[in-house]
Amino acid sequence: MASAPGTPRHVAIIMDGNGRWATSKGWPRLVGHRKGAERVKEVVRAAPDLGIEYLTIYAFSTENWKRSTEEVLGIMGLFARYIQREAKALSAEGVRMRFVGDRARLDQKLQDLMAWIEAQTAGNSRLNLTVAINYGGRDELMRATRRIAERVAAGELSPGDITEGTVDAALDSADLPDPDLVIRTSGETRVSNFLLWQAAYAEFEFTPVLWPDFTPEVLAEILSRFGDRDRRFGGV
Ligand code: IPE
Ligand code: IPE
Ligand code: MG
Repeated sequence: MASAPGTPRHVAIIMDGNGRWATSKGWPRLVGHRKGAERVKEVVRAAPDLGIEYLTIYAFSTENWKRSTEEVLGIMGLFARYIQREAKALSAEGVRMRFVGDRARLDQKLQDLMAWIEAQTAGNSRLNLTVAINYGGRDELMRATRRIAERVAAGELSPGDITEGTVDAALDSADLPDPDLVIRTSGETRVSNFLLWQAAYAEFEFTPVLWPDFTPEVLAEILSRFGDRDRRFGGV
C-alpha cells in the first residue's frame, strides 16, 4: 500500500519505559517488558492501515547487556516467544519480519528462530517489520567499516570509490529506506545509539507515554501531526 501524502513511509520507534511502568505499579521490570511485547503486536497490526510501509522497533541495544542477567534473559526469552507465537499471525497479516543488530552474541537457538522467521515471511510485503536486537548505531557502522575494509584489502574496491551508497549497502539496514519519523516513548529525549546514520534527516517525536501504555491511537495522533512538518533536507 502506498503511503498517503503526509504519511511517513518508514516509522522507527525507540520503545522505552517498560521498567518504569512496571516499577510504578510495584511489579518486577519483566512484567513491563511482557506488556511491552503485547503493545508491539497491536502496533504491528495497526501500522498498515495507518499508511506505514516500514516499521522498525528498537528492542535491545548493545548497551542493554549492562542490565541484570535476570532481566537480559527475560527479554531474550520474550523475543523467542514472540517469534514462535506470532509466526502464523505475521504471515496472515502480510508482515515481513527482519532484524538489524549483531546476532553473533545472541543465543544460537534465538539466532535460528530469527533466521527461520525471516525466511518464513520473506515473501510478505504489506508491512516491513524490522526488530533491532543487540543493535547499536556505532556498532553497526563499525561492522560496516570492517566489511568495506575487507573489500578494499581484497582489491575489490578502491578507497576513492567509496560513496555514501557503499556505506548504506554495508549496513544491516541495506534493504530498508531511511526512517522518516523516529518516535521515542517515556519522555527521554535522546537517541541512545539508534539508527545514527539512517536517521540523518528523520523527524523526531518524543512522547511522555511509557511504552506499555502506547496504543495505536497514540500512534495515529502522532502521525496526524506529521503532515504539518516542513521537511527541507537542507534546502530552503
Ligand atoms: C525499554 O524499556 C525496553 C528496553 C530497553 C529493553 P526500559 O527497560 O528501558 O524501561 P525504563 O527506561 O527502565 O523505564
Ligand atoms: C534504548 O532505551 C534502547 C531500547 C529501547 C531498546 P534505554 O532505556 O536502553 O536507553 P537509555 O539507557 O535510557 O539511554
Ligand atoms: Mg529505558
